[in-house]
Amino acid sequence: MLNTILTWLFWIVVSCVLLICAYGYKSYGYWKRRGVPYEKPFFIFGNLGFVMRKSVWDYCYEFKDRHPRDYTGIFLGFKPALMVQTPELARRILTKDYEYFQDRFLYSGFSDPLGSLNLFTVKNPIWKNMRHELSPMFTALRLKSITELMNQNAVQLVDKIKRDYIDKKEDVNLKELFSMYTSDTVAYSVFGIRVSVLNDQPSPLWFITSNMVKWTFWRGLEFTLIFLMPAVATFLRLKFFSEAASDYIKKMFYNIANERKQMGQSNDKDLVNHLLKLKENLRLPADSSSQLADDLMLAQAAVFILGSIETSSTVLSYCLHELAYHPDEQQLLYEEVKAAKSKLGKEVLQYDDLMELKYLTACMNETMRKHTPVAYLDRICNQDYKLNDDLTIEKGVPVFVNVLALHYDERNFPEPTKWRPERFLYQPESDNLQYTFLPFGEGPRFCIGKRYGMMQIRAALAQLIVKYKLEPALPYPLGNDPYAVILAPADGGKIKFVPR
Ligand code: HEM
Repeated sequence: MLNTILTWLFWIVVSCVLLICAYGYKSYGYWKRRGVPYEKPFFIFGNLGFVMRKSVWDYCYEFKDRHPRDYTGIFLGFKPALMVQTPELARRILTKDYEYFQDRFLYSGFSDPLGSLNLFTVKNPIWKNMRHELSPMFTALRLKSITELMNQNAVQLVDKIKRDYIDKKEDVNLKELFSMYTSDTVAYSVFGIRVSVLNDQPSPLWFITSNMVKWTFWRGLEFTLIFLMPAVATFLRLKFFSEAASDYIKKMFYNIANERKQMGQSNDKDLVNHLLKLKENLRLPADSSSQLADDLMLAQAAVFILGSIETSSTVLSYCLHELAYHPDEQQLLYEEVKAAKSKLGKEVLQYDDLMELKYLTACMNETMRKHTPVAYLDRICNQDYKLNDDLTIEKGVPVFVNVLALHYDERNFPEPTKWRPERFLYQPESDNLQYTFLPFGEGPRFCIGKRYGMMQIRAALAQLIVKYKLEPALPYPLGNDPYAVILAPADGGKIKFVPR
C-alpha cells in the first residue's frame, strides 16, 4: 500500500516538474519568437535573480549599460515584460498613448483595502474618479497653508539635530531622521496630529511608519513581490498595510474627526475635513457598503504614508550627503537662503519665499536626477499596441520605463555621475526636459504629490543649511540599500552637522 502511494507521489511530482519545465520553456521563448532582444532568464526567477541581493535601483542602473538599446524584453518570473529606455517611447507610453497604458502593474490584493484602493495602486475606472476628487487637495493655495505646518516640523528637525547629534554626539542615521520629519509633516498636515516624534513624543503615525520604512529582508521581499510579481503577492496575500495597521489608521483618523466634532472645531489647514468631504462626495453604486466609502477615504489618507514618507526622506538624505561632499555648492546654497532671510527680514521663509530659491530647487532636482527615488515607471498594456512595424505589445504585458537610462544618458546630462546643481539652474521647475527628466513620472498618472513633496524638502533644507555646515562622514558615493524597492541609502547614510 505504502509503495503504491509513494509511486503515485513520485509520478505526480515528476509530472508537475515536467509541466513547469514545459511552461517555462514556452514562456521564456516569448521575446525570441517576436524577434525582440531580451535579457537571458533563469528558470522560475526569470530576470529577478537579483532580488534581495541588490536594489531594484541598482538593477535598473546596470540594465541600461548591459542593454544600451531602445527596448529590451525581460521576464518577471515567467511573465514577459518590456523595458523601454528612450524619451520618445516614454512620451508615447506615459502620455500620448495613455489610453493603452492606463494602470500600473503593481498590486496589493483586496485583503488590503488601504493598499489596493489608494490612488497609486487603484485601477480604472475607480482611479479616474479618485484623481478628480483628490486633485483639489494639492492646489498651490492649500499647499501654502500646509507649508506653515511643515515649517514648524522643520524647526523641530533643527532642534533634534542639536539635541541628539551635536550635544549628545550620537551617530546620525539620515534616512531615519528624515523619515521622522516626513512622518511628522504627514501626521501634522494630513491627520492633524500634533504629537511629534522629532520631539521624542510617542507619535501614533511614527508607530506605523517606522515599521514600514525599515527595509528588513522580509519587508523588502514583500514589497518587491507586490511591485514585480503582483499575481504571486495576491496569491500569498501580501500587503502594504497589515490588518492591524489599517485598523490603527482608521481609529487614529476617526478619533481626531470625532474630537473636532465634539469640540465644534474646524481646522482647514490640515486635510481631515477635506477627506471627510471626499467621502461624502463619492459617487458609488447604490448597493455599495459604507465600509467601501470608508476604505476609499482612508486609502487616500494612507497614500501620503506610502507616497511621501519614503520618497522625500530619500531625497533629503542623498542631497545632504552630496552637499557635504560639495563645499562650493553648499556655500552657494547657504548664501542664497541667508540672503533671502536678510532681505525679507524673516526667521522662517514661507511658501512664496521658498519658491523663489532657485539654487535650492536646482540642488533638489539634481539630487532627484542622480538619485531618482523611483527608478522605473510601470504600466500595464490594456489593449494590443503597435509599437512599430516589428513589434505589437500584447494586452496584459507590463511595460517599464527605465528612468535611470534617461537620467544617466550623456546626451541629456553630460558627465552624468557628477552632482552638478547648475544643470537645473535655468530650467523651469515643471519641465520634463523633453522626457529626459522624470523623477515624478509623467502623463495622467504622474505624481499628484509632486509639489507637496518638493515643499517638504524645501522647508527642511532651507532651515538646515543656515544652522549647520555639512561635512562628510562616509566614503563617497553612498551605497544603496539592497532590500529597498524605492531607493534608500545603505545603513541610512551619515554626515557631520557642524553648528554655524
Ligand atoms: C520627492 C518626493 C516624491 C517623488 C520623487 C515621487 C515620485 C513619484 C513617481 C515616480 C510616481 C509615479 C508616476 C508615474 O507612474 O508616472 C508617483 C506617483 C504618485 N505619488 Fe509621488 N513622489 C513624491 C512625493 C509624493 C507625495 C508627497 C505624495 C503624497 C500624496 C505622493 C503621492 C503619489 C501618488 C498618489 C501617486 C500616484 C498618482 C496616480 O497614479 O494618479 N508622492 N510619485
